[in-house]
This record gives sequence, C-alpha cells and structure tokens, in this order.
Amino acid sequence: MAEEKMLITGERRLEGTVRVSGGKNTAVAIIPAAILSQTPCVIENLPNIEDVIVSVETLRYLGAKVTWSPEEGIMEVDPSTITKTAIPEELCSRMRASSYYIGALLARFGEAKVPLPGGCTIGRRPIDQHIKGMRAIGAQVDTDRGGTVLAQAKNGLSGGDVFLDMPTVGGTINVMLAASRAQGITTIYNAAKEPHIVDLANFLNSMGCKVKGAGTDVIRIRGQQNLRPRRPYAVIPDQIETGTLMIAAAATHGDVTVTGCIPTHMEALTAKLLEMGARVDEKDDAIRVRSIGAHRGVTFKTQVYPGFPTDLQQPMSALLCTATGSSTVVENIFESRLRHLAEMERMGANVRVFERTAVIQGVPKLHGAAVEASDLRAGAALVVAGLMAQGTTEITGTHFIDRGYEHLEDKLSSLGADIRRSKDA
Ligand code: EPU
Repeated sequence: MAEEKMLITGERRLEGTVRVSGGKNTAVAIIPAAILSQTPCVIENLPNIEDVIVSVETLRYLGAKVTWSPEEGIMEVDPSTITKTAIPEELCSRMRASSYYIGALLARFGEAKVPLPGGCTIGRRPIDQHIKGMRAIGAQVDTDRGGTVLAQAKNGLSGGDVFLDMPTVGGTINVMLAASRAQGITTIYNAAKEPHIVDLANFLNSMGCKVKGAGTDVIRIRGQQNLRPRRPYAVIPDQIETGTLMIAAAATHGDVTVTGCIPTHMEALTAKLLEMGARVDEKDDAIRVRSIGAHRGVTFKTQVYPGFPTDLQQPMSALLCTATGSSTVVENIFESRLRHLAEMERMGANVRVFERTAVIQGVPKLHGAAVEASDLRAGAALVVAGLMAQGTTEITGTHFIDRGYEHLEDKLSSLGADIRRSKDA
C-alpha cells in the first residue's frame, strides 16, 4: 500500500500568527467523562485529530449518540443510550487513553472490560496505579492473560484514600473518573498536577461533582450520583501544540505569535528558550517567539508539571541539535523516549545517548534525509528538524503525527514553511 510521507524543505523562516487547537490530552479525558452524565453533554474546542476520532467511534460503539462537527470542534454526547460496557481490542489499540473508559464505565455502570495495548516505543506504560486506585475505592479489578482489564463494583464504589506511587497523569484521571459517582470522599495523594487534570476537574464540577484541589498534590472528590452539565464545556488549549509551535518558531529563527494559548502553562519551555537566546513575550492568551542569532546549548530534565514536559523533550532536543556548544537532556518520565535522536543523526546531528541521557553537540546545519516517526512527539521532533534542515526531509510514520496535531502542515504553511504530503506508489 502507498505510504504517506511528509515532505519538508527547510531553512524557511516562520513568520506570522497561528492559533492553537484544543488540547489532545484533555480531550481524551473529557470525552469519556461524558459517560458519567445523566443528560447530553456539549464539549467544545475539541481538536480534529485521530485520537478524538477514535474516541467518537468508541462512544458510538458503546451505544452513545454522538454528533461531532470536526471543523467546529463541537461534540454532543448523549450517554443515556449506552448499552455496552466492553470495548473491542481494535478500538483500544488505536488510542493509548482507552484506559480512561475503565474509570468512566465503572463509575456509571459498575463494570468495564477494556483490553489495553502493551508497551510502546516511548516506554512500558503500565496501569498498575490506576488499578490500585480503583481497588482502593471498592472495585474488583483483574487482568486476564490477554491483557484485558475486567473491573467490577457490584455494590457500587465508595470513597477512600488513594496513594499514588508516582504522580501519574493517567492514574490520577482514571481514579477521578471512577470516584466521580462514588459514595463519600475519595482523596488522591501524590496526584498529577498537569493542566488537563485541572480541566477534567472543572468539567466534572460543571456537571455537579465536587472536586477540590486539582492542580495540587492532593485531590478530593465527593462523588455525586446525579451529574448533569448545565452548559457547553470548552476544553483548554493544547499545551504541547503551543510548545511545538514555539520551538518551530525558534528553530527557523522566525517571529511567530501563537494565539489562543495559556502562557502560564508554558513557563518551563519559555525559560529554556530564553536561556538559549530566543526572545519570548507573553500576553494574556498569546505568546510571541522571536529568534535572531545563534542559540546556546542548554541542559534540561523532564519532570512532572510544572517541570519541563516530557512531551516537549523530543521537539526541544531537535532544536538543540543546531545550538552552539553542548546540551544535555535527561528523560525522567519514559525510559525509551530518546529514540528519535537516532533519526536526527541521519540528518547530521551529533548525539550520544546513555540510557536516559542524551548529550547533543550542536552542529551548524542539519541536512534533509529520509526519516521515520516512531511516535507522536518523535514525529513533531522530525518536523522541527526538517524545518531547520538544508534540503528536503521525508518523514514516514505520519499517522503518529495525525494522532495529536490538528492541521499541522496547514498551520506551518500559513507561517511560510514548505511542507506537504505525498503518497508513494
Ligand atoms: N506509570 C506507572 N504505573 C502507572 C502509571 C504510570 O509505572 O500505573 C509510570 C509510567 O510508566 C511513566 C510515568 O509513570 O514512567 C508517568 O506516566 P503517566 O501515567 O503520567 O503518563 P500517561 O498518563 O500514560 C500522559 C499523556 C502522555 C504524557 C504523559 C506524561 C495522555 C493521554 N497521555 O500519559 O502524552 O507524555 O502523561 O505527561 O494524557 C503524548 O501526548 O505524546 C503523550 C505520550
């Protein structure tokens, strides 16, 4: 079958204004949360990306009525027609966030059967903390030999204390979903603090749930049986798309204003771009990135929010390939998230990787090459590298990029990039 490629001819300065889409990682949590509602929910500002398309298919498979207008980013979900509580492997294998249907279905129907994809190219991605949390509030959870999770709460769930071993984003979200209709108070200790945790809490609260403390280490959820949204809910802008566009602006020594974003979500990246010598100006809901001279190499470690996000490590390390001097990148969240650097080497990057640490010696220029995206953010990193490189870069594995970036080529083209898709025979 013809394989689609993204073709980028680099060394074009990006200039202008671009609007960021709604957040992927918040959308994939809020869409399953619609299952918790007694009445139809309207969700706005959803990105038109593959993960949202799979979420729509999943809800429809379960029996929900879903109206989805991709170009407007508006979805209406009527969960009252749901008849199923098991999801087939074919759907789950297309989206890693399918585990959120365990928490949502368990909370609403007292049972869920969800097969989980195994490890992926960025690391193992276990869900032991999600399961531990659901057990702590009264669910019986087993995993069969094929890796399907069977969760049940015949007598309903009741609040309890959940101590997470690490501040896992997915674990925090799944326990929040499961606890949303439980009797009594659930307290999550060592909770993740990412912006999408706060967004999910706001969505649950807009339906009448009582969630307090989201954005801190301790989240308290007083479950409510009768959840009903009173008005449409708009998801927050995508933190990682914002960061990718900021990095692309710096990478091309451009002058780009990203609008519709939340600058305070971007502080870790902004600080590093400033350290590299770029200029970053923040407004209420826009960030302008300008870059003229050479960038200085920097050191950074990925951390949970508000530290430097692992999802921006890959595009940022692409940018560092042409910074002067040496840069060190430590990937603390996912054990195998430095693989994209081998592809960078094909483009002339000088990189050494030791387990979770990459030492990048800046080179004056990258050159175009045929490279392969092995995951979503690796794809974003290759796009950044392609924008910087002399000549044409051909990226395969474009379906990974489509999982999480809405109209990426259109947005970059509108800023002056030479980027297009082609299909080989
Ligand atoms: N972990 C466990 N056990 C668990 C859960 C997590 O050991 O039960 C470990 C993981 O192996 C990892 C660390 O804890 O080493 C953090 O994982 P976390 O659960 O926080 O990540 P996630 O929920 O699987 C989400 C995003 C990722 C993002 C990470 C970290 C979604 C759908 N995915 O994944 O996004 O990298 O948080 O911020 O929200 C992406 O957008 O490209 C992406 C991979």
